Amino acid sequence: MKVLIIGNGGREHAIGRKLAASPQKPTLIFAPGNPGMEALGSCFSVAAEDFRGLLSLAQSQKADLTIVGPEQPLVGGLADLFLANGLKIFGPDRAAAALEGSKAFSKDFMSRHGIPTARYRTFRALEPARAHLREVGAPIVIKASGLAGGKGAVVCMTLPEAESAIQSMLGPKAVFGAAGSEVVMEEFMEGEEASLFALTDGTSFVLLPTAQDHKRIGDGDTGPNTGGMGAYAPAPLMTPALLEEASRTIVAPTLDGMRREGAPYTGILYVGLMITPQGPKVVEYNCRFGDPETQVILPILQEDLLELILASVEGGLDRIKVAPTKEWAAVVVMASRGYPGPYETGIPISGLDQVQALANSHAIHAGTKRMQEKLVTAGGRVLGMVGQGPTLEEAIAAAYAGTAKAEFPGAQFRKDIGKKGLARL
Ligand code: AMP
Ligand code: GLY
Repeated sequence: MKVLIIGNGGREHAIGRKLAASPQKPTLIFAPGNPGMEALGSCFSVAAEDFRGLLSLAQSQKADLTIVGPEQPLVGGLADLFLANGLKIFGPDRAAAALEGSKAFSKDFMSRHGIPTARYRTFRALEPARAHLREVGAPIVIKASGLAGGKGAVVCMTLPEAESAIQSMLGPKAVFGAAGSEVVMEEFMEGEEASLFALTDGTSFVLLPTAQDHKRIGDGDTGPNTGGMGAYAPAPLMTPALLEEASRTIVAPTLDGMRREGAPYTGILYVGLMITPQGPKVVEYNCRFGDPETQVILPILQEDLLELILASVEGGLDRIKVAPTKEWAAVVVMASRGYPGPYETGIPISGLDQVQALANSHAIHAGTKRMQEKLVTAGGRVLGMVGQGPTLEEAIAAAYAGTAKAEFPGAQFRKDIGKKGLARL
């Protein structure tokens, strides 16, 4: 079987690595891929935004299955194009991907179906938004409705912060363009976050291992939000009772609701959860695997990912069970100096051969590229150092052992990945 994986980040490298270990021994191809994926299969320089190019690649390479890593192509309708051409693709179509593509849609959807989430109002103009702010006060969370690369949500603890967030989205110098022309203002939820992944064929679903991300740039969850600076799995916060509650009050009604609204959801539904004193509530939906969470949930998943994905695409997930994990995993993201602000690229990376020599650690490539045969940085999040072990402590130690070997000038990473998990054990 030939499988095409679309994307060029850590998530897609982790998916490729897991599929390469499948007993079905698929042939893997990537578009566009990155240097980490070159070891797993052929990379074709077709961008994830080039829908026609991707379609003709899948056709000319006779891909039996395409797996879409990032959200933009799904929100833009890549699955619709592939399905219309009779090709198998893993990921929701455009109508279903709106759960991530439009926060205004997803909040209204949750409200229609009684799915627990923060109270909210949606605004398209500055003055009504400011009037609402004066009425409800801070803390408050201000979000650009459209896709903003994980940077569209601003948690505002004070009124002036909220005022400037609204200005930056709806004011004359809007920073998110069309993505921010509609703004969701929502109640601040107290609690700890967890990432929940449901793999679904539209009707049945299985839950993959839970994970906890570390969104802020700084230790102790300080500083600005990032795409995610590290993760570990499973998340002890998600007890069996909480998992059952989240399945019953969130995942099942979400899939039922989408089906009843004529937009059945297939693929991975990633639910960002806040565990509040009133129970689990939805922070956001994503229509794809999480990054960096995928780097830790896949290594400890005992099932064949390819079998799960095929069951999602073809139906029949009701026959599949996902066993509780036996191991732990942690990933520490090594990011460029300056990230999540402006950063330089093209910085030489070394030491990955030494990471490879470690027993329980491996390196995932996120933002890397080759320049004249040399491996250099090519993004904000550059590498994911993944560790596995029989305890969370050992997994974390194995991840940090990787960060001690891999190197690039200016590399920054958090020193407290997994601490919250350890505190719960
Ligand atoms: P989002 O882009 O919606 O996932 O938001 C990014 C991050 O902002 C989340 O992971 C949370 O840490 C935080 N956040 C978003 N919405 C809320 C909320 N209503 N209450 C508290 N924190 C939030
Ligand atoms: N780790 C957060 C995300 O993938 O959106």
